[in-house]
Amino acid sequence: MSRVTTATLQEMKEKGDPITLLTAYDYPTACLLDEAGIDILLVGDSLGNTVLGYENTLPVTLEESLHHTAAVARGAKRAMVVGDLPFLYYQTTIGEAVWNAGRYLKEAGAHAVKLEGGRERADAVRAMVETGIPVMGHLGLTPQMVHQFGGYRVQGKTDEAAQRLIEDALILEEAGIFSLVLECIPADVAAEVTEKLKIPTLSCGAGPHCDGQVMVVHDMLGCTDRKPPKFVKQYANLREIALEAVKTFKKEVKEGIFPGPEHCYGK
Ligand code: KIV
Repeated sequence: MSRVTTATLQEMKEKGDPITLLTAYDYPTACLLDEAGIDILLVGDSLGNTVLGYENTLPVTLEESLHHTAAVARGAKRAMVVGDLPFLYYQTTIGEAVWNAGRYLKEAGAHAVKLEGGRERADAVRAMVETGIPVMGHLGLTPQMVHQFGGYRVQGKTDEAAQRLIEDALILEEAGIFSLVLECIPADVAAEVTEKLKIPTLSCGAGPHCDGQVMVVHDMLGCTDRKPPKFVKQYANLREIALEAVKTFKKEVKEGIFPGPEHCYGK
């Protein structure tokens, strides 16, 4: 079983073999997704709102992200592991951006990093790639810009916005990214980007014409009572299953049913 690399993903685009990316934030989930054959495990900064209880992704720190990335990397035997640079760890100076990105490979065992933004990040991307750090781009609804956008809104809807997004994608490709997440943009804009780029595009609410599909694992498994965005397909309702199991445990303890003789040690 060989590791998914940037070359594997490029070959998949060229063969028309759809790429799968799910987020993961811990070791058991990484083991599960890896066993299921998911190609990329992204330790997204969605860590903030899915696992750490923050309101959005902005408070996530580099140390928190590295800690969770290392756990995922320990569980992923085949999948590529991508660490997601949190807000304010790559937008200041190029030196700081390269250093922080490098820590994902050096300390956390990741194989690549992801960052948000377009042309304004091109120099940082170039410097990371020259250092040997593979970079995944992210355009469209970039959650670290939520306050700038005035909420979580579909991006690239006007001709002008779509044109700018396509230009950003081409600039990032030229700077050296190996793949590009397109989040919450119209499907026809994503199709145009996919057609224009040589590298794979990954859709997160950007329709079916990208080279791969992305979902937040807690959304697709139904782990929370949060209403998922329109583009999410919920494949299970683990929250309901877990809640039922925990309530049954409580009831059995109260009623003296658990532990039964089969759960007790003899002398
Ligand atoms: O943080 C994240 O999970 C992401 C994906 C939704 C692309 O950026």
